[in-house]
Amino acid sequence: MPFDENVERPSIAISCLADEVHVTEPSVHDRPPNRRLLLGRTDGRGGWLHGGVSVVPPMADALTPETVEPLLQGRFGRPYVFRDSCESTQRLVEASLGEGATAVCDEQTAGRGRLGRSWSAPRGTAILCSVVLEPPVERVIAELSLVGGVAVAETVEAVLSLSAQIKWPNDVLVNRRKVAGILAEADGGSVVLGIGLNVNQSRQELPEDTAVAPASLLTTDGVRRERAPILADLLVRLERVYDRWRDGGLDAVYDGLGARDFLRGRRVVVDGQVGLGIAVDRAGRLEVEIDGRRRLVESGEVLFER
Ligand code: BTN
Repeated sequence: MPFDENVERPSIAISCLADEVHVTEPSVHDRPPNRRLLLGRTDGRGGWLHGGVSVVPPMADALTPETVEPLLQGRFGRPYVFRDSCESTQRLVEASLGEGATAVCDEQTAGRGRLGRSWSAPRGTAILCSVVLEPPVERVIAELSLVGGVAVAETVEAVLSLSAQIKWPNDVLVNRRKVAGILAEADGGSVVLGIGLNVNQSRQELPEDTAVAPASLLTTDGVRRERAPILADLLVRLERVYDRWRDGGLDAVYDGLGARDFLRGRRVVVDGQVGLGIAVDRAGRLEVEIDGRRRLVESGEVLFER
């Protein structure tokens, strides 16, 4: 339906408008169907501050099966297990559900990060998901963090139209800040690949005291977004990148990895020693140069100079 002719339409930038009415920018270009558009300031969660009644609904931002399943394009995300709240999505799926089974929740009470750290995000602000993978025995399971990183980086780039980098072994960065982390946990011969992607957290809602400064998609470009289409896009990209890796190993996805290698050419700190990041190699190890000698790092944490 076209805009109501009687509604006053002040000139307003599309990006501001999208944020005000809690829809994505493309939706604004398309104009909301069957709605009279009223502009007013909101509290950022869909509540109207002016106290007036509005027919503009808050941004639909559910990750329920009804919202996500129609958007799925491949085999990942099936079955789709959703909880409002859980300890960790890593515990909601298991190998018996089959490859592609995916758990998602709005809130984790004991979210897990790498190296025994926690992972937290305010309810309903992030994409928190875990996907069951059944890699062939000849593949190196540790490479799956990088596989996940390529898929997440692709998704983030598609959403933001900005380039994303992969900080070995499991972080996805935009503008030197971490927007996502990946956790690969073995479950017998299967792997549960957990992904935490910061979408709508404000700066104040991001964790403090992290090894890498955090960011969300919202803090990166100021746009509040629906998570379901991003999740569906992430799952189909993960499936494609994973399939290439499954069939051809890290070599088969190396173009997407090497081009986004954040530590390449940076001053890094490994086990307390300062060195130079050379590159993630085709076996998924990080090559560094310390005191003029090359060394391959297989696991652990590498810090970089900000
Ligand atoms: C890291 O950067 O340390 C990895 C973070 C992984 C977080 C995700 S959120 C969904 C899944 N469930 C968890 O408990 N952890 C992973």
